Amino acid sequence: MFRKTSVEYINHVVKLEDILLGLLSEALGLKPNHLKATECDKRQLMVCHYYPACPQPELTLGTEKHTDPVFVTILLQDQNGGLQVMCDNQWADVTPIEHGLVVNTGDLLQILSNDKFVSAIHRVVARNVGPRISVACFFSGVSTPPKTYGPIKELISEENPPLYKEFQVVDYVTKYFSKPLDKTGLDLFRL
Ligand code: OGA
Ligand code: NI
Repeated sequence: MFRKTSVEYINHVVKLEDILLGLLSEALGLKPNHLKATECDKRQLMVCHYYPACPQPELTLGTEKHTDPVFVTILLQDQNGGLQVMCDNQWADVTPIEHGLVVNTGDLLQILSNDKFVSAIHRVVARNVGPRISVACFFSGVSTPPKTYGPIKELISEENPPLYKEFQVVDYVTKYFSKPLDKTGLDLFRL
């Protein structure tokens, strides 16, 4: 039953991602199918998080500050809340909206967009209510056979030189996990 429901859920999320990629492409001034054509929506990873209620939440965090090493994350959080996003150097609560999904720009989309989109810095604070449950669907692009990604050529010009080296997803992810979680991985690929 869980398997059937999970497959059904991810199929819906993939359809939503299709629509999002069209809108994000247009926001970059590209043809609607541009991002889809990069296959950045290939390979989805669904991760279910379980955060037990914490008796002393001020002493810890649910998840440390980080950005996601993917193109896009579509997150379902329950009504307990706890997710925060960095906004103008301050943590802002992402208040749960019933039946609402949170869409996070990841590092790889920031690189593709040559910094037009900014990877969302986020964390989960611990609470003494719960357990809190969330379901994250990560879109991490083609990695086998390896495909090279980099700032989108159409966004590059003399005034807008590429800000990042080209990379393969597997190299990005490997480097990402070899640094402390709260340090950005983007600088490792910045020119
Ligand atoms: C993550 C993440 C947030 C949450 O898995 O990368 O940020 O609400 N999860 O569990
Ligand atoms: Ni995250």
